Amino acid sequence: MNTVLVGLQWGDEGKGKVIDILAKDADYIVRYQGGNNAGHTVVVNGKTSIFHLIPSGILHKDKVCVIANGVVVDPLALLEEMKSLEKEKVDYAGRLKISSQAHLIFPYHRILDGLREGKRRLKIGTTGRGIGPCYADKVARCGIRMGDLYNKELFSGKLNDNLIEKNEIFKKVFQHSGFSFNEIYKEYLGYARKLKPYVCNVPVLLDEARGKNKSILFEGAQGTFLDIDFGTYPFVTSSSCVAGGVCIGAGVPPTAIDKVIGVVKAYTTRVGEGPFPTEFKTSLMEEIRGKGKEFGATTGRPRRCGWFDAVMAKFSVMINGVDEMAVMKLDVLDEQKTIKICTGYKYKGKIFDEYPQDLQVLSGVGAVYEEHPGWQENISGVRSYGQLPVSARRYLDRLQELLRVKISYISVGSKREETIVR
Ligand code: GDP
Ligand code: IMO
Ligand code: MG
Repeated sequence: MNTVLVGLQWGDEGKGKVIDILAKDADYIVRYQGGNNAGHTVVVNGKTSIFHLIPSGILHKDKVCVIANGVVVDPLALLEEMKSLEKEKVDYAGRLKISSQAHLIFPYHRILDGLREGKRRLKIGTTGRGIGPCYADKVARCGIRMGDLYNKELFSGKLNDNLIEKNEIFKKVFQHSGFSFNEIYKEYLGYARKLKPYVCNVPVLLDEARGKNKSILFEGAQGTFLDIDFGTYPFVTSSSCVAGGVCIGAGVPPTAIDKVIGVVKAYTTRVGEGPFPTEFKTSLMEEIRGKGKEFGATTGRPRRCGWFDAVMAKFSVMINGVDEMAVMKLDVLDEQKTIKICTGYKYKGKIFDEYPQDLQVLSGVGAVYEEHPGWQENISGVRSYGQLPVSARRYLDRLQELLRVKISYISVGSKREETIVR
């Protein structure tokens, strides 16, 4: 069984927790896009681990964890993450795999990310990790891939070409002194030596796994509305976060995918700039941010919070072909007297329930809400659907009805065990 797990909102839905739970029944866990802009949190035995590049399944001893070609790899960040696993005595040797075709993030990508953002009138609010500039080089065909580091002549030629062009731009456009070939060359050959044991041919690895009937879990990073094509462009990341991204991001055929699980929060959050129709305008912002600890797992920035947007989620269900859903952080709504769901948008006097393609329309819509009674009790100890308060069940049933997808997992706390499986 090969499953894709994908965020249906703007990221931080709780994908890390669900991956950790599902990893128990998988043999391979594969990251197929994004980079260390992601921050996936797993809480086990009172210990919190945040993963940026390494799949969140790594805490399960016998699982193979793969960083596929669609991921942009900052080797420095990866080595740091490996070091923190060693500190926690997590043995990953032999079961961490990195695609030789994954593109590498270089210091000039990181710096350019910040410089571009500084010059932009319409700021995106990136994580500053060099993600956008690295993907841009990939498409411009001047990117440097993991495997290139093992051919010194090829690597030095590519790096040299890049620096000749980029240093000019850094100096003339950004008044930045540019980068030294020798420093980067030496630094990256050092990374290459350390990462060599993990580099492999991922499509072949996954094909062999499928041949042996192993089950693969694909771990999405970010979320549908941060997708480069289907998100709230240009306020998006630079990769294909949607379920379809698995095929190009990991080299598996569409026919190999058996199931898509969508993850949503029981409300909505977003980090960075861009439209957000259901964003709280009242003290609820602080209240939900506090209760849900809504601060970025990567940058620590406060997340913007709002009500559940069923218009957007319906679009996500469509574009990803979601078979089942996980609803996370239901406990964060425990104290609310009433809970709203956005079921439509109002724009220039017209009401509609289809997610608009035009960003200007999305930025100008007013949310149309239906109101549901809250349950006003602590549900974090609940472990079965039947034990949930009636109002909580009604809220979930309504989400199911609006999105026409079965809710299979309900999360009522950050810990692994604080989960209801239906
Ligand atoms: P991801 O990027 O989708 O993996 O999500 P993040 O890890 O960035 O953010 C989700 C946050 O919510 C993390 O701090 C989790 O520990 C926490 N979390 C996950 N599920 C629940 C839940 O059901 N209730 C509460 N209160 N926190 C949760
Ligand atoms: P996970 O996997 C939430 C957002 C940034 C910014 C935009 C572009 O933890 O859900 P980038 O650095 O990618 O060029 O920034 O995308 N963003 C995320 N927001 N969760 C994430 O990852 C994100 N990764 C990027 O805040 O608005
Ligand atoms: Mg996150």
